[in-house]
Amino acid sequence: MGVGGGHAGRVTGVAGVVLAGVLLVGCGSPDAGSVPAPSSAPVSVPVSTPAPSSNDVLSPAVTRVLPTAWERLAASADRLDPAAGYPRSVDAGKSTWTTKPVDDWTSGFFPGELWLAHTMTRDPAWVARAQRWTDPIAGQVTRTDTHDLGFVVDDSYGAALDQTGRGAEQIVTAARSLATRYSPSVKAIKSWDTEGDDDKRGSWRFPVIIDTVMNLPLLDRAAALPGGDPAWKDIATQHALTASTTNMRPDGSIAHVAVFDPSSGQLVKRDTWQGADPDSTWSRGQGWAIHGFAAQARAAGNPELLAAARKAADWWLAHTAPGARVPSWDFSRPNEERDTSAAAVAASGLLDLAAQTGDARYRQVALETLDELATRDVAPDGPALLAHAVGGKPQDSEVDVGIVYADYYFLEAVGRAS
Ligand code: GLY
Repeated sequence: MGVGGGHAGRVTGVAGVVLAGVLLVGCGSPDAGSVPAPSSAPVSVPVSTPAPSSNDVLSPAVTRVLPTAWERLAASADRLDPAAGYPRSVDAGKSTWTTKPVDDWTSGFFPGELWLAHTMTRDPAWVARAQRWTDPIAGQVTRTDTHDLGFVVDDSYGAALDQTGRGAEQIVTAARSLATRYSPSVKAIKSWDTEGDDDKRGSWRFPVIIDTVMNLPLLDRAAALPGGDPAWKDIATQHALTASTTNMRPDGSIAHVAVFDPSSGQLVKRDTWQGADPDSTWSRGQGWAIHGFAAQARAAGNPELLAAARKAADWWLAHTAPGARVPSWDFSRPNEERDTSAAAVAASGLLDLAAQTGDARYRQVALETLDELATRDVAPDGPALLAHAVGGKPQDSEVDVGIVYADYYFLEAVGRAS
């Protein structure tokens, strides 16, 4: 049981169990008090139904969907051409991926899934597929205009490094690029360069979105590689500490965006882009926090970050319930579309937290979540495994779709739970 490997709770295939015929392997921060701490909007927790199982193992429903996952993944990998774009989303009722160029923030997830498939099945056929979808990402590693290099490069090249020993140069270059976005004044990495845009983001001089915590494992990994800079790990830890008091509200819920004054380093306000309201809790953002703080707590051995991860997780546990572990896209909109990606991200983070703390509640909720996803949310036809994800509802973008990162984190979580 538990999380395999030495990097960021990754599934690295150091242990294995056979399930259903499938081999699985297993800052000082700026003054958060300078703005009033908004409380979360009231939430209503759906009526509880009994948990599917109180066992400490993956449910049969989860193990049963894995052959479907591998079949759909292999078909997409072999049929599509990375030069034509990377799988991102599938509209409801459609059977083809909407693809995006390799510079999209989501390009690392598809190769990441292929590496997960290799780890979890031990079928060597996955290596050539995964490498074919990883190689074109090499062109992204010198970018300094994005905070998303962790999603893009660590999920692809990081996994390649774990599994083949190749890719260290790309990882180190990408970390060097990402580190250029760190501000010693704010004590955080700048998420978006949106100042001057003609939407509300145009007034944000230094936005830090909670999503950025997911890009920190790239810095941790690279810091320890030949040619890497140990300071990158300090940057990652400091960023997470800042987010833990600025994006995180006192009750453990997460604000999508913390806006800073880059000169003084002071927090100007909390806001949102993909959530319903500045004071509401965007479900995937809460998931990113659980996953990201847990990963950085482990990488840094930092008790403050472990406490932050627990606080975000405890909020999640208190606002979901057995039978309703897949939340709506924003906790303040309980009757609107559910977001399977948020649930998958949270489940994977909860498993990391369970492994670090020994707190059985986190593992139990993660297993319930995976069971609910496998039972209710598998798309009847491919190419994605899961349906019912929400990309950005306020932008009317990718609402109730299959989405590549829901599948990625579902598989990551299954690997961690095995
Ligand atoms: N920006 C990443 C997300 O949509 O969660």
